[in-house]
Amino acid sequence: MGQGWRPALLGLALGGCAWDAPQSTLVAYSDFARAILDLYALIMWAVVAIAAVVSFGLLFVLVRYRDRPGQSLPEQIRGHTLLEVSWTIAPALILLVIAIPTIQVIFRTQGTASPQALEVDVRGYQWWWAFRYPSLGVVTANELHLPAGRQVSLKLEGPDVIHSFWVPRLGGKRDVVPGRVNRITLTPEVGGEYLGQCAEFCGASHAFMGMRVFVDEPAAFERWVAAQKAPAPEPPEAAVEGRDIYVKSACVGCHSIRGVSAGVLGPDLTRFGARKTLAAAMFPNTADNLVAWLRDPPAVKPGAKMPNLGLTEAQARAVATYLLSLK
Ligand code: CUA
Repeated sequence: MGQGWRPALLGLALGGCAWDAPQSTLVAYSDFARAILDLYALIMWAVVAIAAVVSFGLLFVLVRYRDRPGQSLPEQIRGHTLLEVSWTIAPALILLVIAIPTIQVIFRTQGTASPQALEVDVRGYQWWWAFRYPSLGVVTANELHLPAGRQVSLKLEGPDVIHSFWVPRLGGKRDVVPGRVNRITLTPEVGGEYLGQCAEFCGASHAFMGMRVFVDEPAAFERWVAAQKAPAPEPPEAAVEGRDIYVKSACVGCHSIRGVSAGVLGPDLTRFGARKTLAAAMFPNTADNLVAWLRDPPAVKPGAKMPNLGLTEAQARAVATYLLSLK
């Protein structure tokens, strides 16, 4: 066997390293993310200092007291009060230096937001996210839009099991726990698209409980809000058949399309066609992916609560055309 596997292995290992990968925590795009990055830096330098002192001490002892020909046993010591007190107090001080700013960041990033902050209710379901903007009258799912530069107060609630909200480039994860409200206060600073992921094992499709966060410039955010609030558009000619199937099928029991249906068990679909992804950011939102999903959701997403409705290929395609027309 040649040595070719070595660079391949190295490539594989280094492939995991990217400073600013889509879910990297090493570049901060919000005040919350920067506060955590500063904590990382503090802890890293503390670790570097400890490693330096310990390595130096070890090297010194190894060299100074190494066995040499003809040398007798050095003086044997038992117990040293000053040393023992010092190496008890020093780690306690280091832990204190790490704990104080850490606790400050925890409280600051879940504390009361400013009165101008944008409130968003985040609900984690098996296996998708609902986002409600109470002050704007907007409800959406799996794709959260936020205005750049404005503080946002996320209110996290879990109606079923424990999930965890995590958008690495915007800040740390925080659990979404049934029966209690957790909060994240942060200000997204740079426009862009950010990948998020449920970070607490929550069942069969935990790995497929993704989300997208779009940080928009304020004017673009206003346009997005206006589009979300407008009544659901009348379907174009080609989408009428799909709407009729939607209205007559079980879809309406679980999904909302404002003015058409008012289900609350599944994601709101009022502006579904404007979303880039499907099934909690699992697939790009294309007609083919949507048809596959509509024909048999649990087949493409393990454990999906949306049942196979027995739609034919043609029916699924008609419903897909309708849903994608909702922009
Ligand atoms: Cu929700 Cu893991």
